[in-house]
Amino acid sequence: MSATPAWFALDVGAPWRLGSRVLPGRIWTASGCFGYGLDGHDIRHEQFGSPYAGLGCVVTKTITPQARAGNPQPRLCELPHGALNSIGLENVGLSSFLADKLPELAVRGVPFLVSLAGTQPDDFGAMAAALAAVAGELPNWHGVELNLSCPNVAKGGVDFGTDPRTVETCCAAARACLPARVVLAKLTPNVARIVPLAEAARRGGADGVTAINSLIGLEVDLRTGRPVLPRRSGGYTGPGVQPVALAKVDEIVRETGMPVVGVGGIAGADDALRFFALGAAAVQVGTAQLRDPFTAAMIARMLAPAGCRP
Ligand SMILES: Cc1cc2nc3c(=O)[nH]c(=O)nc-3n(C[C@H](O)[C@H](O)[C@H](O)COP(=O)(O)O)c2cc1C
Repeated sequence: MSATPAWFALDVGAPWRLGSRVLPGRIWTASGCFGYGLDGHDIRHEQFGSPYAGLGCVVTKTITPQARAGNPQPRLCELPHGALNSIGLENVGLSSFLADKLPELAVRGVPFLVSLAGTQPDDFGAMAAALAAVAGELPNWHGVELNLSCPNVAKGGVDFGTDPRTVETCCAAARACLPARVVLAKLTPNVARIVPLAEAARRGGADGVTAINSLIGLEVDLRTGRPVLPRRSGGYTGPGVQPVALAKVDEIVRETGMPVVGVGGIAGADDALRFFALGAAAVQVGTAQLRDPFTAAMIARMLAPAGCRP
């Protein structure tokens, strides 16, 4: 696609309001697909410069209360229309994030949201409070995205994000500690109806939702007849999930009118446009960012108003 279509009037690089914050743009990177917002500072592209150029926000890798080593290898499997991963939320844990990553994020100035996950609803409030205490003065820290697609130990390991009451509780816990920062609930697509989850997030005080997290998928190795991933199934992402993501975003936008950050299979400007056409407030680039860390910057550049293009 060489130019934006005539109907597209949104300036994706203009500041816009989400809840109580003003974000610098609408093209973001997705959690787990661009590290902690620090890995791309030493690489340059002759056309886009930095991989952070024009980005509205980087959502960090999901942080948990304690560090996690993640799942056994192999964790990633490429498929013809996407990828299957079973990373297992490997991350440095909240204390290390606050001590080592936040000061660097402060210096770098990249706009960011911190993705949070826990094993019980109270974890979301406690982590948000700890974050607010340390990062409260940082102008480039805009808030949190709650990764609700992980097992709730208190409910026998069922994902937080499949139960509206739990979604509401987690959002309310984070909101209580972050009155003036963005709270987004990242929703799982692995449910029959996503709208009740979005409505629950709103009742809990979320400013909007991010849709979608990965689909449950499985690949079989025909040499062994066994699943490729040691834990059998994993998260399916990339181009193949885009129609599912579009349908979920469409349902949420039409039935709730809430701000929706669309994510799923975006690898180019035309993909992003599909989400904006349905009313997404912003979009995130996930799997494509792993292959080429300049993808989001390229999309931001391509969708900038014609007059702003070099
Ligand atoms: C390798 C990998 C790691 C991911 N890690 C996280 C994560 O830590 N937290 C999270 O909320 N989503 C995570 N995701 C999901 C993405 O943020 C995104 O929701 C999903 O991949 C769909 O977008 P995509 O098709 O553009 O990749 C991960 C995805 C991939 C491929």
